[in-house]
This record gives sequence, structure tokens and C-alpha cells, in this order.
Amino acid sequence: MADSKRMVVLVSGHGSNLQALVDASADPAYGARVVLVVSDRPDAYGLERARRAGIRTAVVRLADHPDRPSFDRALRDVVGAARPDVVCLAGFMRVLGPDFVRAFPNRIVNTHPSLLPAFRGAHAVREALAYGVRLTGCTVHLVDEEVDHGPVLFQATVPVEYDDDEASLHERIKREEHRLLPAAARLVAAGRVHLDGRRARFDADPGRALPAAGIPSEQGRQTT
Ligand code: GRF
Repeated sequence: MADSKRMVVLVSGHGSNLQALVDASADPAYGARVVLVVSDRPDAYGLERARRAGIRTAVVRLADHPDRPSFDRALRDVVGAARPDVVCLAGFMRVLGPDFVRAFPNRIVNTHPSLLPAFRGAHAVREALAYGVRLTGCTVHLVDEEVDHGPVLFQATVPVEYDDDEASLHERIKREEHRLLPAAARLVAAGRVHLDGRRARFDADPGRALPAAGIPSEQGRQTT
């Protein structure tokens, strides 16, 4: 695995997206592996998933720092020491400040459970349901200094069913996130994402078959 790319994953909770990254990297052809999982919460189940997979973990708690900027810098230093090719926010529920974001320019990937720019913020699924949208989904995007705002890498749509509640809808959205996040993280880690303003273009990868049906095309088209 000498030339496999290094992924650092930040989690706050359940960690199913972390699991998707770990599972994807079990295939040597994936070309990247999770080298460190960091949480702001010592009780995050994602940390347990990491331990089970034999991945190093770290906890950086906001409460252990006098202010947000020093929390950001501590997080930056812990993540930076792992020399990541990509940093994945996989259900990390803290807004990252400029000290962190500037340390990894266009190397931080977030997954958000709505079709951005609709329903930014921490309650995207609840708000989409309450609004009555018929279609929602997820967005995997690069992180910039605004919340849920950076250039879009992949999106997938998820229909809202009449009898959905927040949990059932979020569960179906997560299934899409589990496919899109590993695909996006791998491209970023390999330096195969190029930006023209906000628009992302991906280098072709003829050597690798596309994963299961519904995975977004690596030519940059989206599928649902
Ligand atoms: C995901 O839906 C992600 O988009 C949102 O939080 C959820 C995390 O789920 N930010 P998990 O912890 O990966 O299971």
C-alpha cells in the first residue's frame, strides 16, 4: 500500500459514512486508506468503528480549549500530523474555522443530507420534510470557509415518500451518501479534481471500472 493515499475522517456520531470509507478502502484498487479518525466527542460510535478496523483514533474536544480558534488549531495540528491527502467530514457536527480550512485547501470533503444550496445547516432532513419537497438527496462537496457552501462534487436525489419521517428519509439519504462520499474522497485524494470557479471537473480513470449501478460517473455526470 506504499502509494495508497491517506484519508483522515472526522466524525461526531454514528459513523456510517466512515464505515463506507473503510469498506471502500478494503479494495486495494480503491487507492486510499483511512489512517486516522478524529472526533470532537469521546462517545462517538464512529470511534468504536475505527478501533474495530484497527485505525488510529484521536479526540479533540471543544470544551478542552479556551475558544473556537484554539480548538480549530488543535484539530488542524492533529489532522495535519497524519499527512492527509484528503480530510473527510463524515457527520462531523462542528463548523470548522478558517485556521482549519486554510490548512487543507480543496482537500476537505463534506457530505450533507440535502441537495445544496437547499436546506443548509444541522437539520436539513427535518426541514426538507417540513417544507414538503418531493425530492431531496445529498451533496458531497469541497469545504470552504462558509457552511455547506463549497464546490459540489456529487449529488444524488432521493424521493420523499408520503409516510416518511425524519429517520426513514435520512436512512435512504445515507444510502446515497455511502456511495458518493467514497467516490469523491478518492478523487480528491488522488488530486483528480480540478476547479473552474465553483465547477468541478474530474480526470478520467479508464483503469477502474465504475462501482455498482448508480455510482456517479467519473466524467462528472450525476446519476440517481
Ligand atoms: C450524514 O447524513 C451527514 O450528511 C450528516 O450527518 C450524517 C452522519 O451520519 N452531516 P453518520 O454518522 O455517518 O452515520
